Amino acid sequence: MPKKRLLSGIQASGIVHIGNYLGMIEPTIRLTQEYESILFIADLHALTTVHEKEVLERNVRQLAVDFLACGLDPEKSIFFRQSDIFAHAELAWILSCLAPMGLLERAHSYKDKINKGIEPTVGLFTYPVLMAADILLYKPDIVPVGKDQKQHLEIARDLAQKFNGTYGEIFPLPASLISEERGVIPGTDGQKMSKSYGNTIPLFAEEQDLKKKIMGIVTDSRAVEEPKDPDNCTIFELCTFFLSSEEISLLRNRYLQGGIGYGEAKTILFEVMNKKLSPLREKRKKIAEDNEYIDAILEDGKQKASEIAEKTISEIRKSIGFSKRKP
Ligand code: ADP
Ligand code: TRP
Repeated sequence: MPKKRLLSGIQASGIVHIGNYLGMIEPTIRLTQEYESILFIADLHALTTVHEKEVLERNVRQLAVDFLACGLDPEKSIFFRQSDIFAHAELAWILSCLAPMGLLERAHSYKDKINKGIEPTVGLFTYPVLMAADILLYKPDIVPVGKDQKQHLEIARDLAQKFNGTYGEIFPLPASLISEERGVIPGTDGQKMSKSYGNTIPLFAEEQDLKKKIMGIVTDSRAVEEPKDPDNCTIFELCTFFLSSEEISLLRNRYLQGGIGYGEAKTILFEVMNKKLSPLREKRKKIAEDNEYIDAILEDGKQKASEIAEKTISEIRKSIGFSKRKP
């Protein structure tokens, strides 16, 4: 039986944080053991918010290093840069001519982003169409992403159906795989951790910075001896991703009984996170020194991804009445 195919992407829009890691990077890299995996750096999507050449270039390179440091095996997965494959933009245009305005007008992420002050460009509005193109080109069985991307996957399925109904069955409908059990990881202010909220804990923060970020987590003002609510505490919630189940239930009891201060809880969180993240940090430093190695991986990924994408785009061009593209 051939392996099933996994596809996912991440925007090159800033420094990777614990929310990205727990919600997407770590579960996705784990799944690459079982699936034929295609992962990419979404630099076309990043253009919706990043307009400085140097920043974009740096983000792309850093993200490549981050994924490799987190355990992505380039021998086993295809890893490439979205803008290297022209077919993404081409299919996005084709799908945009089928996408009903109303479908995109209902997208939460667009509304959230303009509410946060991001300029409402046409690209930002059609972001989900490009994401649908990314997915459909590779006909994946699953698309692992964090919970906040669920609506985008639904839009991709809708557009696949619309295309199939108009031009014939080309796209299988991809299933999402959302790390429901992890849900949305809170940031230092208790809201969803996000680059755009300034509430992140960077995944590769140096030890002292990590400590500072954790010590800055906002809590209520209950005194040490008072009972506390573990289910409404960012520190406790973050601890649950790093502690064993016995350690979690012990900590839960201490919260409920009182006698643990938020300062102590923060120290527990810092120690357990630092233990898990310091080897990644060291590995990252080594990988970052070797620019040629990173370029070679992305170049190899480009060749492999291009073969798959070009095959799909030929089928698409034929079905809609375009000429055959010469290789
Ligand atoms: P950000 O909101 O910081 O800009 P991105 O939109 O670049 O993050 O998200 C990259 C990936 O990380 C996506 O798959 C997204 O679902 C996941 N992700 C981002 N923030 C969180 C979070 N707080 N909790 C869980 N997953 C998250
Ligand atoms: N929108 C995704 C995010 O913000 C990134 C992304 C772009 C993506 N294209 C994709 C994810 C295709 C999965 C599949 O994280």
